[in-house]
Amino acid sequence: MRIIVVDNYEEMSKKAALMVASQVTLKPDSVLGLATGDTPLGMYEELVKLYNKQEVDFKEVRTFNLDEYYGLDPENPQSYYSYMTRNLFNKVDISKNNINMPDGMAKDVNASCVLYESKIKTLGGIDMQVLGIGGNGHIGFNEPNVNFEAQTHLVNLDEQTIEANSRFFKSIEEVPVKAISMGIKTIMNSKKIILLANGLNKAEVIEKAVNGKINPSIPASILQLHNDVTIIIDKEAASLL
Ligand code: GLP
Repeated sequence: MRIIVVDNYEEMSKKAALMVASQVTLKPDSVLGLATGDTPLGMYEELVKLYNKQEVDFKEVRTFNLDEYYGLDPENPQSYYSYMTRNLFNKVDISKNNINMPDGMAKDVNASCVLYESKIKTLGGIDMQVLGIGGNGHIGFNEPNVNFEAQTHLVNLDEQTIEANSRFFKSIEEVPVKAISMGIKTIMNSKKIILLANGLNKAEVIEKAVNGKINPSIPASILQLHNDVTIIIDKEAASLL
């Protein structure tokens, strides 16, 4: 694991955007794995800036998002599809046909998960996967006591996650209790991974993920076994390392 500690959120976002832009420069038809949440918002902003300065383009880029709420229409403003459209897809030249999200409205969930995995494989796998981390150590929506062998699947969200994500909804009752998420195996098959975290509230979980025993109660700890992970964190998130 490479750990890059930066001064603040802005620097973290800039570094991450430069890494993604370099990936796309080296391989214009890169397959990117993308994350949602507050953490990568600044990175998307920086990528849009680089695009506007014509320093990177997304014409040939293919994307797969990590996760999507189950039962939320993509047009719902709280869906991760809406988040991605608002923060990146509508602001750059990515082709709609190259965007892939888990289908939160799938009638046959298993079939749609199998299809998601096979699409990733057909395109040669994920070249670079961006990750955030939940306060309980989740990556994507792979909650504690995860099965490290799982691929894209339907998950029950942890109470802590439902509570944390209720800030985006009018009330906690509106937060979906299930989601479709890439599995740990899907994530671990990515060629490169960058994980972003900022703030004191992520310090404890970063310490456990980086220095702790690899174990399913901290899903992100499995990343210790991946051979190309870069963790970009601000001083606060790094304060217990
Ligand atoms: C969410 C997402 C994750 C994200 C995490 C942290 O529930 N499913 O992909 O990394 O929680 O979110 P935040 O960046 O807002 O702290």
